[in-house]
Amino acid sequence: MEKKFKRTLITTALPYANGPVHIGHLAGVYVPADIYARFLRMNGEEVLLVGGSDEHGVPITLKARAEGVTPQDIVDRYHNLIKDSFEGLGITFDVYGRTTSATHRKTASEFFEKLDANGEFIKKTTKQLYDPVAGQFLADRYVTGTCPHCGNTAAYGDQCEKCGSSLSPDELIDPKSSLSGAVPELRDTTHWYLPLDKWEPRLREWILEQHKEWRPNVYGQCKSWLDMGLQPRAVSRDLDWGIPVPREDARGKVLYVWFDAPIGYISNTIDCVGDDWQKWWKDPETRMLHFIGKDNIVFHCIVFPSMLMADGTYNLPDNVPANEFLNLEDDKISTSKNWAVWLHEYLQDFPGRQDELRYVLTANAPETKDNNFTWKDYQQRVNSELVAIFGNFVNRTNVLLHKYYDGVVPEPGTPALPDAEAEREVRLAVSEMETLIREFKLRDALREAMNVARIGNKYLADSEPWKVIKTDPERVKTIMYFATQICASLALAFEPFTPFAAAKLAESLGMDRLDWADAGNFHLIPPGRTVKPLPLLFEKVDDAVVEAQVNKLLETRRQNMLKNWKPDPVKAETPIETFDKLDIRVGRVVECEKVKKSKKLLRFLIDDGLERRTILSGIAAYYEPEELVGREVCFIANLPVRTMMGIESRGMILSARNADGSLVLLAPSADVAPGSPIS
Ligand code: MF3
Ligand code: ZN
Repeated sequence: MEKKFKRTLITTALPYANGPVHIGHLAGVYVPADIYARFLRMNGEEVLLVGGSDEHGVPITLKARAEGVTPQDIVDRYHNLIKDSFEGLGITFDVYGRTTSATHRKTASEFFEKLDANGEFIKKTTKQLYDPVAGQFLADRYVTGTCPHCGNTAAYGDQCEKCGSSLSPDELIDPKSSLSGAVPELRDTTHWYLPLDKWEPRLREWILEQHKEWRPNVYGQCKSWLDMGLQPRAVSRDLDWGIPVPREDARGKVLYVWFDAPIGYISNTIDCVGDDWQKWWKDPETRMLHFIGKDNIVFHCIVFPSMLMADGTYNLPDNVPANEFLNLEDDKISTSKNWAVWLHEYLQDFPGRQDELRYVLTANAPETKDNNFTWKDYQQRVNSELVAIFGNFVNRTNVLLHKYYDGVVPEPGTPALPDAEAEREVRLAVSEMETLIREFKLRDALREAMNVARIGNKYLADSEPWKVIKTDPERVKTIMYFATQICASLALAFEPFTPFAAAKLAESLGMDRLDWADAGNFHLIPPGRTVKPLPLLFEKVDDAVVEAQVNKLLETRRQNMLKNWKPDPVKAETPIETFDKLDIRVGRVVECEKVKKSKKLLRFLIDDGLERRTILSGIAAYYEPEELVGREVCFIANLPVRTMMGIESRGMILSARNADGSLVLLAPSADVAPGSPIS
């Protein structure tokens, strides 16, 4: 492939340091960026993978308030947790910085000052929401209210999470301060605005004409923003957490988090390479890529490029491969609802098994549409793909090499047709893989890598060295030589995706460096080399492991329901006669069993003091029938007979519905005679 560029700067969205990183972040941004960076490095290309924490913004100050600590405490805690867990997963950042660093404060301030000096901002005074109780302006998430678009009553001042609209605080209906709960009033305040409209024609030309190759979701979002027409955007806020606006007349104002954070990419580059940073940002022979999630598209394709154009000395990104969202067990991942698989917890629960997560998140990457992560799918993919295809092939080859030749790679004879065929197929797969990676189709690229292992398995199965060894040992030398070369190609193909396994494989094959040019090379591992015994690359995921993870999530779901539960409003008034008409009494359970073919129903035989009656009740999910025999229950005795599942039910057993939806039987608090009335 022709290389237009000398080097590639890869940025990854800076996660807010207000919580740990979860699988949604990983699948959307960090795993793909790492795969891409690793692949380029294997090609000997010059790469810088830049990451860091986003430590400003309202979510961090809100979290600090909620915990009664300082914002600095919050970001110190999460920055280190995030940084360490990325490292644990093998994300090869060249630098992982933070936006509270001194370098960043200086870089962001100077960026602002230059634009300000060049007259790139407009200063505007507008009326904004002010909390008279807390004595401060209410930026972004400091105010909640009703979304003017969808009616969601819990929309934030900057965004409605229900319908996804971005909002400004004054658009909210019935706004309320998240600080004091007070109804905000409008007060004059002055801010600096970047006139995006000024850059609109150049943005149109640059994106809509010159970057038709961008992913359809990215291109489409940009087009709809541009078609709606761009407005000046405030780059400052009335807050006390952030980088102070570097001007005398800006007391109490800080740079808006979305102004300072992308400059963090520059600051972190500076922290990494020092004076050399300009070549990464300004040399036209450097290309820049932003790996982000879809909620960040407008900032990386419209706002940040406008800032860079306003400066006038920077490159613009060459591509912005934004991913869609990953859901977890069919629900939207949410930090505040604790609905996530947290990376630091995964690393604890699955020590040494980072490749599994990397693999599953890539095989199921939300590249073109939202995708769903389930533990069942995780188990399935690990067991039937990583273990059964990749692991199986390299393990079999290694074992046979040791069995027949003490691990020494044999001298091949003249290749036969199946050998040449396998070689051709492997070459095709790795070249296809390269094309796909360069097009950011990492999911498909991974499939090609796995195909190499499939080819290997088929090759062994068809060639049957374990049989041929008895009749034609010379032929087996060729087979095992070829199988070994396929293993070498696998080490290369999997390096970007499952680097831990690839390293073990490469080590056993004595490959001292992984050079992509060697993928598909069938002369790479020379005859006579001793291949070391291969440790097990992948282990099966047991049912118990999956169950434990699923249970953890079920418990989270239950906790959330309990937290959010509110009793229904009281029903309309009704006279006492309504109650008197009902015959509610105590009965004793004589028999109880599951109703066949029904998940919900239990069949009770109840001693009601006069006779025995059958009653069906939908509580099978919550009780074992045996434990109920002999217990007293309350039931309504004078309802019309109802037939369910072919059984006549004469009455209704009373139970209370818990906040999590489960049912609890009502019973008298001491023994009473069956038939006792309830009043
Ligand atoms: N912190 C932002 C988020 O999580 C992303 C910031 S990306 C940057 O959505 F470009 F601003 F750094
Ligand atoms: Zn809405």
